[in-house]
Amino acid sequence: MRRAKISIIGAGNVGSTTAHWCAAAELGDIVLVDIPGDFADMPRGKALDLMQASPVMGYDSSITGTNDYADTAGSDVVVVTAGIPRKPGMSRDDLLGTNAKIMGSVCEQIKATSPDAIVIVVSNPLDAMVQRAHQVTGFPAQRVLGQAGVLDTARYRTFLAMELGVSVEDVSALLMGGHGDTMVPLASCTSVGGIPVSQLIKADRLEEIIDRTRKGGAEIVGLLKTGSAYYAPAAATAQMVEAIVRDKKRLIPCAAYCDKEYGVGGFYVGVPVVLGSAGVERIVELELTDSEQAGFQKSVDAVQELVEVMAGLV
Ligand code: LMR
Repeated sequence: MRRAKISIIGAGNVGSTTAHWCAAAELGDIVLVDIPGDFADMPRGKALDLMQASPVMGYDSSITGTNDYADTAGSDVVVVTAGIPRKPGMSRDDLLGTNAKIMGSVCEQIKATSPDAIVIVVSNPLDAMVQRAHQVTGFPAQRVLGQAGVLDTARYRTFLAMELGVSVEDVSALLMGGHGDTMVPLASCTSVGGIPVSQLIKADRLEEIIDRTRKGGAEIVGLLKTGSAYYAPAAATAQMVEAIVRDKKRLIPCAAYCDKEYGVGGFYVGVPVVLGSAGVERIVELELTDSEQAGFQKSVDAVQELVEVMAGLV
C-alpha cells in the first residue's frame, strides 16, 4: 500500500512535534519544510534526529527536511504551522498582519506543488488564517480546515478530569466557535462516564474551568515566556492527520467552512465535522440552546470582524 505523504510547513516546535507524533503513529512519510536563511539546515537536522529515533521507537516513517517546496510535491496532507507565535502579553490577533502575509506565500507554494492536498492550518489567529489559506489556494472548502477545536476540547477535558480526579478517557466534551476567548462549550455535550457534567460540578466552578479553557493557550504562553504551546497543538493536529490518511470518519470539532450551517454565511469557524479521506465530509448541525446560540453568534462576529481587518492588511 502506498504511504501517505504528509508535508509540514514550519519546522519550529509545533511543526517538529507534529512530525514526531505523525511518525510515531506511522501515518505516512513526512517532509518537514522551513525557509532558507540563518537556520536553513534546521528542518534537515530535526528530520534526521527523528529518523535516528525510529529504531528505538519502532516506526518506519521516512522523515526528510528541506527548504524547497518541490520536495513536498504531490502531498496528500499539508499541515501549515508557519508564522510567528505570540509572546506573553500578546493576543493571537496581534499576529494577524505578519502571519496573513506568511500564510499567503506558503499557500501559493502549496497550490503550485500539491494541488490535490488537504490543508490543515495551525497558525494563528487560527480562524482568520484558515480563511486566508482557502482564499489563496482556491482549494474546495472541504479540503482546507483549521486545527483548534480538538485542542480546545482537549484542554477542557483535561481540566475536567483534573477537577474530578478521573481518567481523561471518561470525559467527553465539545466546544464550538472561534479559537479564542469567545469559544462556546456545549453543556449538553459534556459528560463524564456518561453522567452530565452539571451533576458533578457546580455551575460557578464549571464557569471557572471554562474560563481557564478559554485562556488555555495564554496560560502556557505565560509559563513558557519564549513562545506558545506545542505538545497539545501537535497532538491535536496529528489526530486530524490520522483521521484523513486512515479515513477514520472522526466526529471532531474543526474550523470548517460554513455555508449557511449554523446560520454562518461563507466563512470558517469551529463546528463539529466528520473528518475523513475527503477532508471535511460533513458538518454536523446540532440544536443549540438560546444561550449557546447567542455565545456562538458572538464568537462568529469576532471571527468575521478579524477577517475583515485582515482583508485590509494583505
Ligand atoms: C494555543 O492555543 O496553544 C495556540 O493557539 C497558541 C497560542 O498562541 O495560544
